[in-house]
Amino acid sequence: MTTPEIRTDLTDGVLTITLARPDKKNALTNQMYGTLADTIERAEHDRNIRVLLVQGDGDMFTAGNDVSEFAAIAAGKGPAERHVHRFLHALAKATVPIVAAVHGKAVGVGTTMLLHCDYVLLAQDAQLITPFVNLALVPEAASSYLMPLCIGHARAFEMFAMGEPLDAQTAVAWGIANRVCNNDQLRAEARRMAERIAAKPPGSLSAMKALMRKAEALVAQMDSESAKFQERLTSAEAREAFAAFAEKRKPDFSKVTQQ
Ligand code: COA
Repeated sequence: MTTPEIRTDLTDGVLTITLARPDKKNALTNQMYGTLADTIERAEHDRNIRVLLVQGDGDMFTAGNDVSEFAAIAAGKGPAERHVHRFLHALAKATVPIVAAVHGKAVGVGTTMLLHCDYVLLAQDAQLITPFVNLALVPEAASSYLMPLCIGHARAFEMFAMGEPLDAQTAVAWGIANRVCNNDQLRAEARRMAERIAAKPPGSLSAMKALMRKAEALVAQMDSESAKFQERLTSAEAREAFAAFAEKRKPDFSKVTQQ
């Protein structure tokens, strides 16, 4: 599966994956998830790929899942096959090291995917935002497990429940990311780090990564989240949140009588 909205380039063992839908803030569509899943799965078997480097075009990393696709699913008009699950499973199982270069906003899965990356570099303007509850949804990508593990329950609850942006310095202080750098140096710095990792013995790296992450447990957590997520997608609350986004207004949950 391919789409021009996901660009890839393999140079010196580093496969750069660029989210390239800048007019829609790199919001991720089903087609984009499919391409991302294929790319990660390919990297697991291609010995020429030593490291994945994920970045975004335009003024932000990604606005997360395409909300109009959420609305379509809520209206029973979703795609026959949803590739997001394959993408999340591929992330959970990946043993190839993943570097992320994040500038601007990283919304929803844009933030939760970072919990599966191995080296996260943030530009000074980076903001991590997890507005799942604001959309009447639940966290995904095993973040309901990984985020509290990484930053503690109190901070994770606040991030998920309030959906307020977390700035780059705080994200590093809390252990979600490795380092902050100037915006104009982000891509070069990320590339440098990816090349340094690519020079290490790949068998050792992937064995180390597999030991550090319990892929089966992560997949199980993702599947529990997906069941709840699917239920929430078709809730009256979520329909109000999606309608509000389409109409560019604030959602009004006070009139929603059904949960
Ligand atoms: N899904 C679909 N379209 C999206 C999108 C998303 N997640 N995020 C942005 N877009 C679209 C907007 O609808 C707009 O399209 P239009 O030009 O056809 O009207 C375009 O991208 C530009 O977005 P805009 O809102 O004008 O940019 P901004 O810089 O003012 O705000 C965000 C950026 C990311 C803060 C804002 O767009 C937003 O909150 N998006 C939704 C994020 C979200 O809830 N994601 C799901 C997480 S689970």
